[in-house]
Amino acid sequence: MKNKIILTSALALVISGPAFSADGVSAEEVTASAATPEPVVVAQVAGANVFNRNLKKVKVKNAPPPEDGIHDPENEGTYVLQPPLEAYQGLPTSPYGNYVDWVKAIDEKKLQPRWDRIDSSEEAFVMDLDVLREVKASVPDVIFPHRQHTEWLACSNCHPAIFIPQKGANQINMSGILLGQKCGVCHGKVSFPITTKSCKKCHSQPKPEDWTPPLSEATLKNPWR
Ligand code: HEC
Ligand code: HEC
Ligand code: HEC
Repeated sequence: MKNKIILTSALALVISGPAFSADGVSAEEVTASAATPEPVVVAQVAGANVFNRNLKKVKVKNAPPPEDGIHDPENEGTYVLQPPLEAYQGLPTSPYGNYVDWVKAIDEKKLQPRWDRIDSSEEAFVMDLDVLREVKASVPDVIFPHRQHTEWLACSNCHPAIFIPQKGANQINMSGILLGQKCGVCHGKVSFPITTKSCKKCHSQPKPEDWTPPLSEATLKNPWR
């Protein structure tokens, strides 16, 4: 009985929806002439595939806030913000992201991020520990450097919510990163993005001389190989 009720109401939705406009009558006309005009909710599918905004070419590099497509041009607060091109003047450049090499900027002391909002004498707890992640594919291995991260970030920005603090304890792959997981929580949003020019920043450790692609268990078990 319950099923039947659900079925009928689903059918009612189809009848009042734009599905019946195929015979040349527009969706608006159908809705307008319906006896009980219910608002028709149309799913927003136009943006379904823009999962990585870095894959979209921007027309203007570092446009001022009202024109960057991120800030609200209707809000007067947007006009108070310093335009990036003005703020980034004199900083070392990079070929991607917002075109600033932020790591170099700190290394060259052109930037000194304030660690504590209230206490300006508070210093970052920088940890110089590289973690090597051997990649099964033929690309160079990944070195995760703690130093460059802990100059900006606290341990708790990553541990334990994004990464368990133990070498090899986390499953990481490129598709997840491009979808905004693991390294992709930040890379592509607030730190340098994944582009064909930036692969080497993470994949920085050449494969050992004697490296051969790992074989699958099925291949290893195959007596004919
Ligand atoms: C930007 C993210 C990030 C920040 C910030 C960060 N870590 Fe990590 N940490 C990682 C990643 C990624 C790994 C490697 C995990 C893996 O290999 O699966 C790791 C691994 C570790 C490990 C394991 C090393 C090993 O050899 O097993 C320890 C310990 C650790 N982190 C401590 C810290 C401490 C202490 C801080 C703060 C000073 C910190 N981390 C800040 C991302 C981060
Ligand atoms: C922000 C850091 C980062 C950047 C940039 C990056 N990678 Fe990766 N990549 C990783 C990590 C981390 C892994 C997982 C390594 C492992 O297996 O532990 C990975 C894994 C891979 C793998 C193995 C298969 C897979 O999907 O996991 C391939 C292939 C790969 N990357 C190619 C690329 C290419 C090509 C680029 C440039 C377009 C690139 N990567 C840019 C961090 C990065
Ligand atoms: C919590 C945010 C966050 C996460 C998660 C994160 N990063 Fe970063 N990463 C940063 C920031 C911020 C910087 C410094 C600013 C920049 O380079 O854009 C940075 C810098 C780096 C650098 C230094 C580049 C240089 O010029 O020396 C490498 C390499 C890197 N990240 C790799 C990774 C890899 C690999 C992962 C995942 C295992 C990862 N990051 C996860 C925020 C993050």
